Amino acid sequence: RAFGCCVIYCYLLSCSRCVSSYSVTVQESYAHPFDQVYYSSCSDILKWFKCTKHRVSYRVAYRRGQKTMYRRKSQCCQGFYENGEICAPHCTESCVHGRCTAPNTCQCEPGWGGNNCSSACDSTHWGPHCSNRCQCVNGALCNPISGACVCSRGFRGWRCELQCEPGSYGHGCQQKCQCQNAAQCHHMSGECRCSPGYMGAFCEEHCPAGKHGPQCEERCSCHNEAVCHHVTGECSCPPGWTVTK
Ligand SMILES: *[C@@H]1O[C@H](CO)[C@@H](O)[C@H](O)[C@H]1NC(C)=O
Repeated sequence: RAFGCCVIYCYLLSCSRCVSSYSVTVQESYAHPFDQVYYSSCSDILKWFKCTKHRVSYRVAYRRGQKTMYRRKSQCCQGFYENGEICAPHCTESCVHGRCTAPNTCQCEPGWGGNNCSSACDSTHWGPHCSNRCQCVNGALCNPISGACVCSRGFRGWRCELQCEPGSYGHGCQQKCQCQNAAQCHHMSGECRCSPGYMGAFCEEHCPAGKHGPQCEERCSCHNEAVCHHVTGECSCPPGWTVTK
């Protein structure tokens, strides 16, 4: 019954249109002929000067008729199926974390990959189809959806490429260093590395008597109860004594 189905390329199209015909029964009017009799004057005395005459006349009549109608018809292309008003693409495997955007083609949500979008991105990839490489360094975690880096403790910067600024340490560099007396503070643990002459967890104490220098490991060489400087080891003599070289 299809009439003149127009062949539209289905390439990149979800449906082709064609025109089909169908017939309907209608009442149609027409001019129906009939024999009309009328009188006319004539010279025939036997007919009392009135003669019968005939002529073909028409009157409106009705009859059943067939009328051909045309309608547009959409037909889904191969790989598509009718879904309400539209032709929707069909994916043989259902798209688990994504959408079917073309026949057998899943468009994955960020953070998911694989043919049917069922595999989560590994730790070094992110985005739709896990197609972007993570840029994070220094052991940072990469957000599989946005690619944002979550720095491990002691690091900062969008790629976590920077150490915490001096004076701060830990996760997000949120903790304040407690080290004193010009000690160095470890960017991850906050552990203090004392400058020469100091000791204690926060380097808050001088070296014990008789010791000086880095890690208070050097032995003082002062005599006669002279006090040894905790940093340099220099002896300060009690009254009455002098330094001998
Ligand atoms: C998605 O694909 C994986 C591996 O290709 C398969 O094991 C799984 O059954 C699929 N899931 C669906 C819902 O099609």
